Amino acid sequence: MADADATYLHLTIDGRSVEVEGGTIVAAALAMAGAGRTRTSVSGEPRAALCGMGICQECRVTIDGRAHVLACQTLCREGQMVCTGAAAANATGATSTPTTTDKR
Ligand code: FES
Repeated sequence: MADADATYLHLTIDGRSVEVEGGTIVAAALAMAGAGRTRTSVSGEPRAALCGMGICQECRVTIDGRAHVLACQTLCREGQMVCTGAAAANATGATSTPTTTDKR
């Protein structure tokens, strides 16, 4: 249910415009937008937020050109540009199903 008094922000995730309520963290925006990954491991496996508290580093994304920003520790801002690298991973044929053998 939408809050009539809420402030909404507009950001871009992998080139797609997304609207979120003020106070939303980037990891939540990614989940709400249906982004299947936050980054791709060196072995081509998709990675996604795991701990939600800045420990696992699995939620690293590029925000406004700055790489390795923790999505779970970053608030959404108006006009923010978030890149997961999913387009590049898809172009190279990286897998879309996480496995337990990933070495990061
Ligand atoms: S989800 Fe673990 S550090 Fe962000």
